[in-house]
Amino acid sequence: MDQQALSRREVEALLDFYMASGVDGFLEEEAVDRFVMPAAPSASSSLAFLSGGGAPPAAPTGAPHPQTRPAQPAERRQPPSPALVMPAAGAQGNAVIPDQAAISSARERALTAASLEELQQILGTFDGCNLRLTAKNLVFADGNPTASLMFVGEAPGRDEDIHGKPFVGRSGQLLDRMLMAIGLDRTNAYIANVVPWRPPGNRTPTPQETELCKPFIQRQIALANPDILVFLGAASAKSLLGVQDGIRRLRGRWMEYDTGGRKIACMATYHPAYLLRSPLEKRLSWRDFLSIKARMAELSPGKSS
Ligand code: URA
Repeated sequence: MDQQALSRREVEALLDFYMASGVDGFLEEEAVDRFVMPAAPSASSSLAFLSGGGAPPAAPTGAPHPQTRPAQPAERRQPPSPALVMPAAGAQGNAVIPDQAAISSARERALTAASLEELQQILGTFDGCNLRLTAKNLVFADGNPTASLMFVGEAPGRDEDIHGKPFVGRSGQLLDRMLMAIGLDRTNAYIANVVPWRPPGNRTPTPQETELCKPFIQRQIALANPDILVFLGAASAKSLLGVQDGIRRLRGRWMEYDTGGRKIACMATYHPAYLLRSPLEKRLSWRDFLSIKARMAELSPGKSS
């Protein structure tokens, strides 16, 4: 047998590694002439290649996944095994290995933000999370920061990464239609994610990445100070409420989220990406949205936002 041939396991591990590195776009809108590229690419340009940099890749990443588990938004892939959560070769000079000290530093930095604008600036220069090395943009928030209703998703996908705004892809469009169904739009809702950078290849953020980003979303919620907080999908609810229940158990129940200074009414509901592939569940989401609307009227009578 050829000594150089890779075993099936090795090939699978290599493909996993490519996936973790963001190689999810084999085709781009325009052909890339690699012969005219610099012979020794810099860390950032080699990363841009790995994440399909330059023109947005044409590879479809938002296609519904055949799997129907509700806990996971449709377009997410499983995170790589810890051994594969290594930054791409060439990026290691800038990358950090997340540890407890990095999480404490994230917490300290998040707490220094006195406004949402400051928090966005701090995140823009925060180099403790390696996801920023492969993402095109920081995806901080969209909507009205003074709204009484706030939504929190898991992490941006490809479209969000390109536009630097949360929930602008297919699931975001569904979220807009759901808001419209209860007489709202993005002028009366504020929208953010637990993780503000796109994980390469739309994989699920690793627990370390989520822990590193958590202090920032916690601060973002405290600064936005909504009356009602809605978790889109189990992932954001689990990380911010510290619960283990699946979304079927969690959704539709009013709970309390403690900002440290105030308790906010909160609820988890299905992630719109899940609804895109399980449209029958929309009837339960509709119930949740009606309940949100009723709660808003209760908490701020006479106010639509
Ligand atoms: N899914 C999320 O959780 N967040 C987004 O911004 C988009 C898709």
